[in-house]
Amino acid sequence: MTDLALDVVEFLLTTSVYSDDRSLDENDLPPSYRRVFWTGGPEADDEDGESGSGSGSGSGSSRRTRGIERPLSATNTTARQATGADQPWEAVSELMFTDRDEFSGTISLTEQGMAERWFLERVDDERLLANPTLAAHFEDHESVSDAVDYETARENNRPIQADRVWIDGLLEEYFDEEDDEEMLDLVEIRAPEEVDLTLDDLVLTPDQEAEIEKIAKAIEHRDYLASIGLREIGKLLFVGPPGTGKTSTAQALARDMDLPFVEVKLSMITSQYLGETAKNVDKTFEVAKRLSPCILFIDEFDSVAKTRRSDEHAALKRAVNTLLKSIDNISLIQDDVLLIGATNHPDQLDAAAWRRFDEIVNFPKPDYGMRRDILHVITRAMDIDEFEPEAIAEATEGLTGSDLRMVLREAVLEALTENRTTLTQEDLVDAVEDFEERDNLKNMDMIEGDHDALVAGGDLGKASDGGHSHDHDHDHSHDH
Ligand SMILES: Nc1ncnc2c1ncn2[C@@H]1O[C@H](COP(=O)(O)OP(=O)(O)OP(=O)(O)O)[C@@H](O)[C@H]1O
Ligand SMILES: [Mg+2]
Repeated sequence: MTDLALDVVEFLLTTSVYSDDRSLDENDLPPSYRRVFWTGGPEADDEDGESGSGSGSGSGSSRRTRGIERPLSATNTTARQATGADQPWEAVSELMFTDRDEFSGTISLTEQGMAERWFLERVDDERLLANPTLAAHFEDHESVSDAVDYETARENNRPIQADRVWIDGLLEEYFDEEDDEEMLDLVEIRAPEEVDLTLDDLVLTPDQEAEIEKIAKAIEHRDYLASIGLREIGKLLFVGPPGTGKTSTAQALARDMDLPFVEVKLSMITSQYLGETAKNVDKTFEVAKRLSPCILFIDEFDSVAKTRRSDEHAALKRAVNTLLKSIDNISLIQDDVLLIGATNHPDQLDAAAWRRFDEIVNFPKPDYGMRRDILHVITRAMDIDEFEPEAIAEATEGLTGSDLRMVLREAVLEALTENRTTLTQEDLVDAVEDFEERDNLKNMDMIEGDHDALVAGGDLGKASDGGHSHDHDHDHSHDH
């Protein structure tokens, strides 16, 4: 109960301090509070909006600038949304310094000084550092340790641009015409808070780690890079078979760097109503620029080159050319957009496509050591008796990270059918066997089924040219 009271009092103090201190802005509110009071209008105080001055010159003037309006009203509803407490008023009604106006429902602090003392007796550094508004208010207070300072709290606090509400506000404003519906089918936008993997959950090769480190540094120092005229940076191509972590790595990067994640599936472009396609490509890049800093992830990049080669509809080719031109025109340094392309079929990319990327990052199938590490990572929260990841890694040559996840899922579900939540090594061994059986079935399907879609992706290591030789590979390997 006391914890709830502390949560609610923190909320009451924060709304009160924030309402009075006009030097504070939305980035001084913890995300869970800010979400409650955000009223839309993406560039509310337009502080850092200036950096992208080159972009979107046509649409700037009509923008609403609202954001967060003072005073922040603390009611049962807002307090519940912000703190998760079911009955916020109940949690603090016993305290001597709180009051609730029956009519408006407003919860207030009748004795702010007393509330502050009560709060400071119970709060720890970590909590203060997660709330820049209160860190600013209390940093010089005698009972607060030196470890608490406003600058640190502000730096730790996620920027508003990483919040879903901010992204939604921007989208709502930007996509008001009816025909934009299609556009949103093409693009999926995720707030960093909605990504649940972090880079720590992924097992990367030293090469991949080095690339990520490099790009993180480049993002951090983009002003410097601009000043020395270095612009050819910030376009990565992730290359590798399905299930090797390309998408996950791009998303984890977004989460760890607090950047919105804008994902485009190129196959969607080609399936769209033709007249709109080129326009939609343009818009996609404009969305990315408006959301910047962000990551623009273009999946299935090979379909670009495929389209250019084939005798597709002229409108489609135009769209693809628009895409290539847009890629040329977007830049990490100028637009704060990190572009990441991904492909399972590097053999299908033409020179024009390769040329657009300044770094190629290889996502190979994991080797023994990586498989062992992946097994460690994905079983972190599981109970496994006599767990021996080495043996499983040994037995899973050729499986990807995504395959290993599937193996684990099978083992967990199997154990559940016996009402067990503790696994055994035996369960895992069985699940590996089942997986291989399943894999065989899948490959049988491939032989009969849709060759291009299924076969080529599964067998990237072979540099053979056509679909036919791939068919044979599968025929042989699964016909023993
Ligand atoms: N190296 C890895 N470490 C940890 N988990 C991994 C790794 N590789 C893949 N996974 C897991 O496998 C799943 C699928 O990975 P992901 O979707 O990123 O693969 P992908 O390379 O994008 O595949 P596709 O080419 O089919 O899009 C994810 O849940 C991811 O966490
Ligand atoms: Mg993917």
